[in-house]
Parts: sequence; C-alpha cells; structure tokens
Amino acid sequence: MSHTNLTGVEKVYVYEAPVRLWHWINMLAILVLGVTGYFIGNPLPTMSGEASDHYLMGTIRFLHFSAAYIFAVGFLGRIYWAFVGNAHARELFYVPIWKASWWQGFIEELKWYAFLKKEPAKHEGHNPMAQFAMFFMFVLGSILMIVTGFALYGEGTGPGSWANSLFSSWVIPLFGQSQDVHSWHRLGLWIITVFVIAHVYVAVREDIMSRQSMVSTMISGWRFFKDKR
Ligand code: HEM
Ligand code: HEM
Repeated sequence: MSHTNLTGVEKVYVYEAPVRLWHWINMLAILVLGVTGYFIGNPLPTMSGEASDHYLMGTIRFLHFSAAYIFAVGFLGRIYWAFVGNAHARELFYVPIWKASWWQGFIEELKWYAFLKKEPAKHEGHNPMAQFAMFFMFVLGSILMIVTGFALYGEGTGPGSWANSLFSSWVIPLFGQSQDVHSWHRLGLWIITVFVIAHVYVAVREDIMSRQSMVSTMISGWRFFKDKR
C-alpha cells in the first residue's frame, strides 16, 4: 500500500497493529526484566527485619516472573504473526545473509552510520544492519533468555511442573549445572542491554537524519518519506 499525498510526501503502511502493540509491550516487559534481573543477580545489602515481613526479594522475583510470562507469550505471539502478517512482519526472522545484495545494503548502511555517506538509503522495512542486530542480538538473545529463564524457574517449581519437564530437564545438563545456566542468563541481560542502547540511538538518529519517519512508524504503522523518491 503506497500513497502520495498533495505535498508530494510518500507514505507506506509497514507495521501492522499487532507488531506495534507487541513492540511496546515487549519493551516494557524487558525494562522490568532487566531491572529486576539485575537485582536478582546483585541483591541489595541485607535489610533489617524479617525477610518475610518486607518480602523485598520476593516482590522483585514476582515482578521478574510476571514480566517473563508476558515477554515469552508475546514472543510466541510475534512468531505467529510472522506467518499471518504482511511481508514486513517476517523481516525480524528472515535475514538473507546468503544474498550479495543484502550485504551491499549492509555495507552502505555501515558507511551511513559512520558518517561516510551523505545520502541515506531508503527502506520500507528494516535496513539490513538493523535486521542483523534485531535477529542476532534480539531474537537469538530472547530465545536464550526464555530457555534459560524457564529452566531456572522450573528448578523452583520443582519436578513434575511443566517448566521443569519442558526446560530444566534438558537445559541444565546441556549447560552443565544450575550455576552455568545462571551465568548464561546473566550474560543475556547484557546482550539485550547493548542491543537496546544501540537500537534507541539509531532509531532516533535515523528519525532526525534519514528523512524518513522511524519512531512514529512504530506508533502509527506508516513510514513517511520526506523527500520525493
Ligand atoms: C527494550 C527495549 C526495546 C526492544 C527490545 C526493541 C526491539 C525492537 C525490535 C525487535 C524491533 C523489530 C520489530 C519487528 O520487526 O517486529 C524494533 C523496531 C523498532 N523499534 Fe524498538 N525496541 C525497544 C525500544 C525502542 C524504543 C525506546 C524506541 C524509540 C525510541 C524504539 C523504536 C523502534 C523503531 C522506530 C522500530 C522500527 C525500526 C525500523 O523500521 O527499522 N524501540 N524494536
Ligand atoms: C530479557 C529477558 C530477561 C532478562 C534481561 C533477565 C535477567 C535476569 C538476570 C540478570 C538474572 C540474575 C541471574 C543470576 O545472576 O543468577 C535473572 C534471574 C532469573 N530469571 Fe531472568 N531475565 C529475563 C527473562 C527471564 C525469563 C523469560 C524467565 C522465565 C521464567 C526468567 C526467569 C528467571 C529466574 C527463575 C531467575 C533466577 C531467580 C533466582 O535465582 O532467584 N528470566 N534474570
């Protein structure tokens, strides 16, 4: 769907409502997971009084597990939408690294980000560099967090629980022992944190510099190309 309005600004419908809704819910879930996860890994100094009275770490873990369910169910929903949504809904999971033209776009984008190019490339969906980071850091990172997270969770819910049967039973031996799963889960926090810092920087940078809409596209679904193409 492509339109040109009276001012000559072209616009294309890119992100459907479920993708946009997922993006922002997922962002909030990750924010809660990152902050609570950090405190699970680096607890605050001991508080005075009975732990069961203030229940501080209990609350932090409860928030972590609640956000974890939202994050995991949202991720499954996003995979479902890749099958039923428009072509742009598949870009997150489909990175054609075997195509020379894709690498050409990647290098062009790298130059643009390094201020070595004057003209930004225009993309209806994700640019190749964004796609690369989104898949290799976010998608694979999320799978790591869901698999290791539910394996740790299943240790708490115990043998016979679904999380224990579905995840702990094979994930813990695969990584070695419980502490190794904790360490990988901890590493995942930093993979996703680095992704988010870079992602927000480039989203805002592209919005300002590339003469095509970015942040509003993840809100309204429409990409506006501010020059005539
Ligand atoms: C935890 C924080 C965040 C995570 C994990 C995240 C992750 C993602 C992912 C995975 C996509 C691809 C969407 C898809 O194809 O389904 C995306 C797109 C996008 N995100 Fe985020 N995001 C976060 C925060 C933000 C914030 C704060 C902003 C705004 C400043 C933002 C702006 C965008 C934009 C503009 C796009 C579309 C980019 C494009 O068209 O290539 N994101 N984000
Ligand atoms: C972006 C996603 C996530 C982030 C950034 C994150 C972050 C963290 C961090 C940093 C820790 C501390 C690790 C340690 O040093 O032991 C942790 C612990 C934990 N996380 Fe996550 N996590 C995420 C997703 C999940 C998911 C999907 C689950 C599934 C239920 C989960 C369940 C757990 C459990 C069970 C623990 C251990 C709690 C404890 O030992 O008391 N996490 N998380």
